[in-house]
Order: sequence, then structure tokens, then C-alpha cells
Amino acid sequence: MEYTVKSGDPEKQRSACVVIGLYEGRKLSPSGKRLDEAAQGALTALLRRGDIEGKSGQHLLLHNPQGLLCERLLLIGCGKEKDFNEARYREACTLMARTLSGTGASEAAVCLTELEVKGRDIAWKLRHAVECSEAALYKFDRLKSQKSDKKRPLRKLVLMVGKRSELAPGETAVKQGLAIGAGVTLARDLGNLPGNICTPSYLADQARDLEHQYGVKTTVLEREDMEKLGMGALLSVARGSRQPPKFITIEYKGGKEGEPPVALVGKGLTFDAGGISIKPAAAMDEMKYDMCGAASVLGTIKAACELKLPINVVGVIPSSENLPDGDANKPGDIVTSMSGQTIEVLNTDAEGRLILCDALTYTERFQPVAVVDIATLTGACVIALGNHASGLMTNNDALARDLLNAGRYAYDRAWQMPIWDEYQKQLDSNFADMANIGGREGGAITAACFLARYAKKFKWAHLDIAGTAWLSGKQKGGTGRPVPLLTTWLIQRAEAAAGK
Ligand code: BES
Ligand code: MN
Ligand code: ZN
Repeated sequence: MEYTVKSGDPEKQRSACVVIGLYEGRKLSPSGKRLDEAAQGALTALLRRGDIEGKSGQHLLLHNPQGLLCERLLLIGCGKEKDFNEARYREACTLMARTLSGTGASEAAVCLTELEVKGRDIAWKLRHAVECSEAALYKFDRLKSQKSDKKRPLRKLVLMVGKRSELAPGETAVKQGLAIGAGVTLARDLGNLPGNICTPSYLADQARDLEHQYGVKTTVLEREDMEKLGMGALLSVARGSRQPPKFITIEYKGGKEGEPPVALVGKGLTFDAGGISIKPAAAMDEMKYDMCGAASVLGTIKAACELKLPINVVGVIPSSENLPDGDANKPGDIVTSMSGQTIEVLNTDAEGRLILCDALTYTERFQPVAVVDIATLTGACVIALGNHASGLMTNNDALARDLLNAGRYAYDRAWQMPIWDEYQKQLDSNFADMANIGGREGGAITAACFLARYAKKFKWAHLDIAGTAWLSGKQKGGTGRPVPLLTTWLIQRAEAAAGK
């Protein structure tokens, strides 16, 4: 969709629809009050009839509002003014976009951007208005024979700002919102695609598409290449699958030549049945989402390309399936990773760390300034944090601070968990350098502790997105997280480098 930024009086907008906020107790926002004055109190009179209270989640669409120039007026309930916050603001924007797309309005003037959100400026509000609108209008119907393409006339949102000095930061924020929106959409699409379509080869093709669209450099290593590199851990997982594994790297060079890149390493398990340690049947379909780390790397690189960020980024995606097979990993098998460390595979369902450890070792060759791996790694992380925060583990506290901050700004939050040495002994093996599982206790942490053994040569953070990458139940679907967090982090790094 198209977004423009405009400074002007709400009552002077000859728009197909003007959108304003209404707090609980029928309290009009500042723009609402001005419209009411222009309409000589028609709005307050109407509110007195009691059709809308202003509770969060409520809305009321008025046609040909008396005394106003706009064709429609959309009131969005915002809840109690004193409780209004980031989450309520985003909900208001989401509800607005959903409601507008069900009307005949092709364009709307949005005044929700005036609502006070504590600690957040106009740039934050515009960026989130765009992101929420893009996410609200997302649909995934490419595999349905009947498309739900009821002609959606909504083409354009005009985001209102209070002063002319807010136009320039507003435009930048819209660009960022759109870039993140595009990255999130890509990540959601890839996540939602089923395992029989979204295979390792499909992910490799997606990376090649980015090469064609934006000129990034994509390289795809095949099984033989991985054998030569000694990626015994990754290959042991791929042995149980008929789909060839792929090892994908994407180099985005927006920064200075020779400047060390940030590396994003994404778990690309296109279907995880557990292998010989097979998973229970219930909800196993959701293991098509086990490549959401990879999807977020592709989405973030897409966003970086859209924004032409002046930094270097390398995406690294180890990709395989994990299935039971006569040639699959067996519990007790011992494999040798690219780093030379040996691993006893006590549970074939702890496969993510097996493909990631070789990817981390491979990433050393880029001499990265920082490495972030992103993985739907453990059910334990879902138990610990639920759906609201991604788990963050790191060997560098400054990196933790930056990622946590980026997550807060993006409203795509992470929460740090420790990886103290004391946890490491849970990975002891009687027969190899380490086991691939550390028992039930602190399962998200011991998984990260395993990865930490392969991340000693750089500043590294791990995001466990098992709880955040998709939603289950009736609203089953990919979320595109943590593309907003990662892209925000890259934007902030680029700004810091430019001395902003
Ligand atoms: N992809 C799963 C993690 C997962 C499970 C994410 C459920 C979201 C929901 C991962 O490969 C896995 O199976 N992990 C095991 C590790 C265990 C065997 C140590 C798990 O979490 O059960
Ligand atoms: Mn698994
Ligand atoms: Zn998995």
C-alpha cells in the first residue's frame, strides 16, 4: 500500500475517510475535538447516543458525517487515556487497517498518529502505523483455489502529523515501516508455505531471487561442498532426508569495502519430524515453521536492501529436513562437526544445534563484527517465555543491550537468559566431546550453551524464536518475527556508525 505524510487540519481533509481515536468515556482525541467544533457539536451529540464507548477494540464507521468535508469518519476505540501505550497504539492501527479494508474507501486520512504514546515520538508512531497496517492486510491464499481477492479498494493512507517539522522524520519512518513490512511479509510467506513446497532447494531459490532483485551475492553449497568442509554435524541430519541439503550464504554489501560484516545465521529446517526420536503426531504440521530463523534472515536482508543500509551484512542459512529414515541419525551416533569437536546425538530431535554449529564455524571466515543466530530451537523456550518474547542468550553484554533495545523499539521484544558455565556440564557425554541434549532442566539455556561452544571466536548472540515465529490455534500462521527486531538493530548500527 501507499503511505504519505501530511501536515494539515483534520477538519479540512476532503478524504474518503478520516480516522480518529476515541478514548474510553467517549473522550475525543484533539483532532476529534476539532472535527466536532467544525461540525458544531454534531459529533458529541452523536456520541451521546451511546453507539461507542471508546473501549479498546471498539470502532464506529459514520457515513457522510454531518457538517464535515470527509465522506466517512472512522472512530477507533483506544481504551482509557491514562492506560494508552505502545500496545494499544498498535492495536488501534491494526483495527483501523482491518476496518478500512472492509469499506469502499480507497484512501484515508489517519489522525491516530497524534495520540500520545509515552516516550515515543512521531517517527515511532508513523513507523508502527505502517507496519501494523501492512501486517493487518496480509493474507496467505496462494494455495487456495478460491482466492479471497474481494476487490480491496484501499490504496493509500495519509498519515497526519501536527507540524511541518515532523514531515521529514515522518517520511523516513514510513520508508522504514515499509521495508520492515516487506521483510515481515516475506518471512511470513516462507513460514506458511508447507514442507513439500518450501524445501531447502526452495529456500536457496529465494536467496537467488534476492540476488536478482537487489544484486546481493548469493552462494549455495551442495552436499559435496559440505563434505569437503567437514560439516559432519549438519550432514548427519540431512542423511535422513531425500531432499538435498543446501548451505546458503547471502552477502549484502551496503557498507565500505572490506568493512567486517554483521552475520545473521538462520536455522532452515524445512520440516522437523524429529528423526528417529520422532515427535508426537499432534500439531506436527507446525514443524514446517522450523525454518523461520532462515526466513527472518531472508526478510531482514530484504529490508536492508530496500533501505540501502550503509553496512555489510552476511546471511548464513544451513538448510535440511529432519526425518526418520534407514540412513538417519540414530540415538547414540557420534558425529564430527566442522570445528573438529565430536557430538553424541542422544536425541535426533535436537537437530537444530547440529546444523547451526557447523554454520557458526563456517561463519568465522567472514570475520564478522557480530554474529546473531536465529532459530526455532527449543520447546523449552516456549514454556519459559510463551509467545511474547524471544529468548536471547549471548557471550557479549553490549550486544545483548543493543538487541534488547532494538526489540523494544520494534515492539518485537526479546528477554535475556543466562548461559553460565555451570549449565555446560549438563552437556557432558561419556563417549564424545559433548552430547546434543542437556536434559529437561533449562532446556533453552543448554541448547544455547551448546551453540556457545561454536561461537568462541566472535561476539555472538542467539535468538530462540520457537515461541514468537508463528501462532498456533485458530490464527495459525507465521508472524515474521524477529524481522522487526533485527532490521531495527541494523538501522541503529548504521545510524551509530554515521554518528547520528
Ligand atoms: N524445532 C524444535 C523446537 C520446537 C519444538 C519449536 C516445539 C517449537 C515448538 C527442535 O528441533 C526440537 O525438537 N527441540 C527439542 C530439543 C530436545 C530434544 C532437547 C525440544 O525442544 O523438544
Ligand atoms: Mn527437532
Ligand atoms: Zn527443529
